[in-house]
Amino acid sequence: MTNKYCSVKPIKDSSLPQVFIETYGCQMNVNDSEVVLSVLQKAGYALCESLQQANVILVNTCSIRDNAEQRIWGRLDVFLQEKKKRKNVVVGVLGCMAERLKEELLQHPAVDLVAGPDSYRNIANLIAALDTGEKQINIKLLREETYSDISPVRLDKNGVSAFISIMRGCNNMCSYCVVPYTRGAERSRDPHSIVREAQELFEAGYKEVTLLGQNVDSYKWINPDNTTETTNFAQLLELVALVNPKLRVRFSTSHPKDMGNGVLYTMAMYPNICNHIHLPVQSGSDAMLDKMNRKYTREGYLYRVGKIREILPDCAISTDIIAGFCGETLEDHADTISIMKEVGYDSAFMFQYSMRPNTKAHRHFTDDVPLEEKTRRLNEIIELQNGLSLASNQKCVGKEYEVLIEGTSKRSAEQLFGRTPQNKVCVFDGKGHKIGDYVTVKVTSCTSATLMAELVEE
Ligand code: 5AD
Ligand code: SF4
Repeated sequence: MTNKYCSVKPIKDSSLPQVFIETYGCQMNVNDSEVVLSVLQKAGYALCESLQQANVILVNTCSIRDNAEQRIWGRLDVFLQEKKKRKNVVVGVLGCMAERLKEELLQHPAVDLVAGPDSYRNIANLIAALDTGEKQINIKLLREETYSDISPVRLDKNGVSAFISIMRGCNNMCSYCVVPYTRGAERSRDPHSIVREAQELFEAGYKEVTLLGQNVDSYKWINPDNTTETTNFAQLLELVALVNPKLRVRFSTSHPKDMGNGVLYTMAMYPNICNHIHLPVQSGSDAMLDKMNRKYTREGYLYRVGKIREILPDCAISTDIIAGFCGETLEDHADTISIMKEVGYDSAFMFQYSMRPNTKAHRHFTDDVPLEEKTRRLNEIIELQNGLSLASNQKCVGKEYEVLIEGTSKRSAEQLFGRTPQNKVCVFDGKGHKIGDYVTVKVTSCTSATLMAELVEE
């Protein structure tokens, strides 16, 4: 079935079957939900805002840590209550947890359908097949699937920034990580389709795209018609930056083992590529990095940071850190603390290690740091980062930045917020400006989380 709509925006039409999608986990999952919605809209569904209106309830899930999965089990219980209240509601579990737990999820009385990350092209057929009265499952991983021909229906609220997946899967095999099992092998997407998507977004009024991949630095497209013609990440970044100077370009995630200077030089050449690099360190200890199978040393990581500072002096660096990995000693933990200070991260996502079934760490190592001690180490890391984030923000006070306006502040409608190229949230009083405008602001004060600024008259 086709329909009359053709848009990057969700269809809201109560005469059509209603689908409700709840998304957990990473930005890639948000973008996957947008692909799912695109497929479903083509099949005649419309998006609804609440569970209570839905004919189809989908939950796109994350398996990265145990608490992410626990939250979703809790949601399934809520969906079950909804199903008991109304007839003709179907519930589908999508994403990483679907891929990891497979049939086990069908045991939950709420669940009718289980669909892994490479099955979304067929999601409407899977839902239709529920009419047979049989529960449905498709968890096949496909080596080629990149959804390159599907234009995601954007679920962002502001119409300003959008995600573009440039690759899927992961080949890195970090010993703690479930992603290679839930998302399969790495595959890169045709650069032409990526550039086309960026162009379409710009034409639809978007001002910022974030290129997504588990490891963008290993992006590699080999033209199937001419196998000597290849595109690497630095080249792709340039192609997207050239779409329009008023389209900001961000990307995530970089891998310290694969990032070269080429990407940094491309960033230096194009002002619309934002000066922010998310460079997960995970640990500052060589022993832990080796056990994590990260394939770089502390020295190698710091070399990369040095190159970023040299080539892009005002580039922000953020990171991911895991506290209490298998066998982590107090000395290893102290190495993490010291590398954080040495780099002076602008921001960080910080976690305690959560054992994931069937990963290499689960099979070969012991999860032996007691929970209380993991929490203590994590709290120390968080406290340090709060200080580092504050110090980083204080350095911005008195300086001018270009901010892309993303919305009005929660406190007052006159107050607008956006982000600097370095990805710092900035709040200021607007003067008739609207969402999607670029403005120059001067930072007047800050907290560890936010810059307060005033407009610079042009
Ligand atoms: N336990 C805790 N944190 C993890 N991450 C990945 N796997 C685990 C795990 N088993 C973190 C890493 C990664 C981020 C996305 O999630 O820091 O970079
Ligand atoms: Fe994203 Fe990883 Fe969570 Fe899957 S397991 S949703 S890839 S963060």
